[in-house]
Amino acid sequence: MDYLVNLSTLPPDTQSPERMTQAGITIRRALPPELRLITGWVGDHFSQGWASETTVAMTRQPPTCFIATRNQELVGFACHEATARGFFGPTGVAEEMRGLGIGRALLFASLTDMKAMGYAYAVIGDVGPSEFYEKAVGAMPIPNSAPGIYAGMLKL
Ligand SMILES: CC(C)(COP(=O)(O)OP(=O)(O)OC[C@H]1O[C@@H](n2cnc3c(N)ncnc32)[C@H](O)[C@@H]1OP(=O)(O)O)[C@@H](O)C(=O)NCCC(=O)NCCS
Repeated sequence: MDYLVNLSTLPPDTQSPERMTQAGITIRRALPPELRLITGWVGDHFSQGWASETTVAMTRQPPTCFIATRNQELVGFACHEATARGFFGPTGVAEEMRGLGIGRALLFASLTDMKAMGYAYAVIGDVGPSEFYEKAVGAMPIPNSAPGIYAGMLKL
């Protein structure tokens, strides 16, 4: 199912900067020279489908992909404006780094960027961990949204 986030009421992300500093994590927009490194990492850690969506986000200018790094290594990513206009995702955090607030910080970075692009709402496509989105940004399920844009999608 797809979920909807109201960007008009999205609060500033006051908790992430301190949490990320304490954990030694940098959250920033990805750079075009990092395209192969990032899409390779996404393919290795998640799926080739997600790597393809990340390629679309990385080929926009500026890229609509945010990354989390620690000690000069990639530990998480979040894309928007990739699968469809106004869509957030895919996103993922390295398994050993989960639960530190990185996923939430990346989500806020992307949604704040979408709000600045002029969107009033963001769609989170094909949500897996719905509790994560409900808790972090008050996302709501969209009725009759499955299978939505992914109907009949070919898979590797
Ligand atoms: C979903 C994901 C990106 C979350 O990243 P994370 O860095 O572990 O999340 P955070 O630490 O920022 O969690 C923020 C809050 O959501 C909660 N949360 C995180 N993942 C959750 C889950 N799967 N189910 C329910 N709650 C979850 C956390 O407990 C945390 O609550 P807190 O603020 O009270 O501590 C990560 O678990 C992941 O990569 N999952 C696999 C890929 C995936 O499913 N991506 C989403 C596709 S739609």
